[in-house]
Order: sequence, then structure tokens, then C-alpha cells
Amino acid sequence: MKTKYLYINTIGCQMNVYDSESIARILLPLNYKETLSLEKADLIIVNTCAIREKAEQKVFSFLGRLSKLKRKKKGLIIAVGGCVAQQEGKKIFTRTPFVDLVFGTQSINRLPFLIKTVETKKERIVDIKLSEYMDEKKRYNYKNNGKATAFVTIMRGCDNYCTYCVVPYVRGQEISRNSEEILYEIKSLVDSGVKEITLLGQNVNSYGERHGVSSFSELLLRVNNIKGLLRIRFTTSHPKDISDDLVACFKNLSRLCKHIHLPAQSGSNQILKKMNRKYSKEEYIEKIDKLRGACPDIAITSDFIVGFPGETRADYAETLDLIKRVEYDNIFAFKYSDRPNAAAAAFLNKVSEEEKKERLKNLLNLQQHYTALKNQNYIGRTEAILVEGPSKKQNKSISEWTGRTSTNRIVNFACDEKILANELSANKLINVIIEKSFSNSLWGRVVFNNQKACHKGKKNYAA
Ligand code: 5AD
Ligand code: SF4
Repeated sequence: MKTKYLYINTIGCQMNVYDSESIARILLPLNYKETLSLEKADLIIVNTCAIREKAEQKVFSFLGRLSKLKRKKKGLIIAVGGCVAQQEGKKIFTRTPFVDLVFGTQSINRLPFLIKTVETKKERIVDIKLSEYMDEKKRYNYKNNGKATAFVTIMRGCDNYCTYCVVPYVRGQEISRNSEEILYEIKSLVDSGVKEITLLGQNVNSYGERHGVSSFSELLLRVNNIKGLLRIRFTTSHPKDISDDLVACFKNLSRLCKHIHLPAQSGSNQILKKMNRKYSKEEYIEKIDKLRGACPDIAITSDFIVGFPGETRADYAETLDLIKRVEYDNIFAFKYSDRPNAAAAAFLNKVSEEEKKERLKNLLNLQQHYTALKNQNYIGRTEAILVEGPSKKQNKSISEWTGRTSTNRIVNFACDEKILANELSANKLINVIIEKSFSNSLWGRVVFNNQKACHKGKKNYAA
């Protein structure tokens, strides 16, 4: 069978990255091989994100670029998957008539059949059925692609209905995956060289609740016992579901990384109520105190939305106050945007675009101060890091590498490739003394067990 080429453009969250990897794997038997060239592709898939207006605009601007290619190349198939596909369904054909297939967030298992039908019958298809089961088995041969890190989805969907959020409408109701299957997938990934696993879900802390397939902390304990796995991360957590058991995991589980992403969204109790978040600012701070009590150097990051409908200056000041009180390691912050179906789209007292922009700028400036301060505190510390590969700014004359601390800081360092490979073959983390801090990363010097170090600019050991 002739090799065909597949180009995937992934927009959005880690869940989409995981789904795109599954898409590439599930299409292998149809002889599709991944390419990074749009021109070479026989099949172009856009895996879309609908979380904010901006992400959706990105989808349609990319699709706009494809119309010329479609006219030029006979037989080219263009497919749109993910959250925008789920949300818009066949409306996508009206806006972009050259699209051949629209498939939803739970249609990936059916993709080989759908693509084959488009290929042979030359007909356009929409498949956006949501299911009550999470059947991932068919999709995998569980091989890693040479990376030290991998994502594993443990649950899908969300039942929380935060009033700004589109996720429950495009990802369906909360479904937890069978824990045996998750453990099997992780073991297989570890056997093929993966050292760090990130467990993914919209709301991982409520894993198992609906289907009783063990609690999240029980699952973490079992993952922690997998031989050969060095690190565990998870995302995303809902503050209301942080249990004492989970807090204890940060104290007791040796492989669980010292980082939690705990989206607060706002520091105003009035706004949190309107957002349907089900916790108050005080309760949120209480959870942070518990986490720091169990693991004093845990890194805490968060998401915030500014300019939610009805957010007054006083509400906004409460958010700034929360940021000051928690002293986050880092945050992501967004201007509120209306999403289809989400309740807040119909709320009154919308905040002007200009005001939202101003609030976002000031909030990010405030956080910048804490991020820089926290990064500076690393200077002089010895950190264990998991090497992920060559650094982005790979300098030709010296080999530069990148990895992360347990607290999720990016650390770059220089080291001779052979020396590093030798060290890594022992399936270990590498010790690095942090020498410099930047806004988004740290720079360090490797120290191997025999106390010899790799210096910047020098290819070999220096005593
Ligand atoms: N407008 C702005 N930001 C949003 N987020 C989710 N929905 C919206 C929206 N309608 C943000 C939240 C969430 C992150 C993934 O995206 O902060 O945690
Ligand atoms: Fe959206 Fe809220 Fe569910 Fe997170 S918990 S996915 S913000 S509805």
C-alpha cells in the first residue's frame, strides 16, 4: 500500500496533544505517516480548541490558509476535530466548504472508518456523537516516541458547569477511565523509555467518583509503585475537590512532583459565586495552607480570568490580593470571553474590552514580580532534573540541554553529549547547581556523583 502523509495541527491544551498522538497512531494501519510539511500532506487534521474566543479564531484562520492548497491538490482530505468540531458540527461546512470531515472529541476511535469512507465514497461526514464510556483500548500500541515524558488521559469531560466554561458542552459528562487500563498504559510507556507521566483530565481530583473505579489518591499510589517510573505529574485540579488524602500524597509519594496547578479564577467571593466555582477565597487559601503544610516547597500555579461579567474594581482588587497572599510560582491569566452555551454569555454588566486589557496587564505585572523573585531563590540550590532533550537555543559549539525540576522549572545546562548519555543510561535524574535565573527558565551546572561538573562552554569535565 502506498504511504500517505498526515499533517496534524494541534491547538489548545495537553488533552489535545494526547488526542493528536492517538490520532496519528490510530491512522497508522491506513498507511498514514506524519509529516511536518503541509504541501506534502494527503490528509490535514486540525485538532481544535474552543476554550476561549482567541483559540477559536486561530482555528478558522488556519483553515482559511488551506483553501488554496485544497484547490491545488486533488484528493487532499481536510478534517476538523476536537472541541470546535464538537461545538459547531456541520456549521463548519458553511464557514469552510472545503472541509471533508468534522469529528468530535469522542469520535477518535471511529476515525479510520470515517477517513476510509471519505477516501472511497468522496462524501463529506460529520460525526460528533458523545458516549457514556471511555474506550481507549483500541487506540494504542502504547509506544513512546523517544521522549522522556508522556501524557496519559485518566478521565474525560466535566460536570462542574462553571458559568464561563464551554468544556462540559464540548467534552461531555465526566467519565473516568478504568484504572487497570491506565496502569497498563503507563507500564507500557515506562517499558519503552518514558520516565515521567502527566495524568490528564479536566478535573483529575474527582477521578473515579462517578464510576467508583478507585479514588484519585488511590490511583496515584498505584502509579507511584510502578517500577522504573521516576516522576508523576497531574493536571488540572479543582480547588473544591482537593481532599486531605490528596494533600497527604504530596508528603508520602516519592515520585509525585512538587507542583500543583490550582486554578483560582478570581479572588472575589461574589465573582466566584457567579462563576459557580463552589469555594470561597478563604477556603481556597485554606487548601493552599494545607498543601504547603504537607510539602513546604511545593510550587503553586493558577489560572485567573479578568473582566468576568459584573466584576467591579473592588472584585478585581480581591483577585490582586489573592495573588499577593498566595505568592504563586506562576500564573496564566485571560480576559473573559463569551462562549457558546456557557451561562455567563447571558450575564449582564459585561466589562469593556479596554478595561479587561488594563486589568490583565496589571495583574500580569504583579505576578511577574513574584515569578522573578521565586526564580531567583533557586540560585545556589542543587536541583534534581529530568533531562528532556537538547535545549531550544542549541548552540552549535557546545551541547546545551533542557530539563525540569520537580517544581516544573525549566533548567538549561551545557554538557558533553557522550558524558550525559552515559549518565542518563542509568535511568536517573541529574543534579544541577542553579547559577542564573531568567523570567521563564533557570541556568545550571551539572554535578555528577563523583563531584565533577560540566561547565558552560567546556566540553568535558571540570574538577
Ligand atoms: N474566558 C476566558 N478564560 C476562560 N477560561 C475558560 N473559559 C474562559 C472564558 N470563557 C480559562 C480559565 C481556565 C483556562 C483553561 O481557561 O482560566 O482555567
Ligand atoms: Fe470548565 Fe469548570 Fe469544568 Fe474546569 S471545572 S473544565 S473550568 S467547567
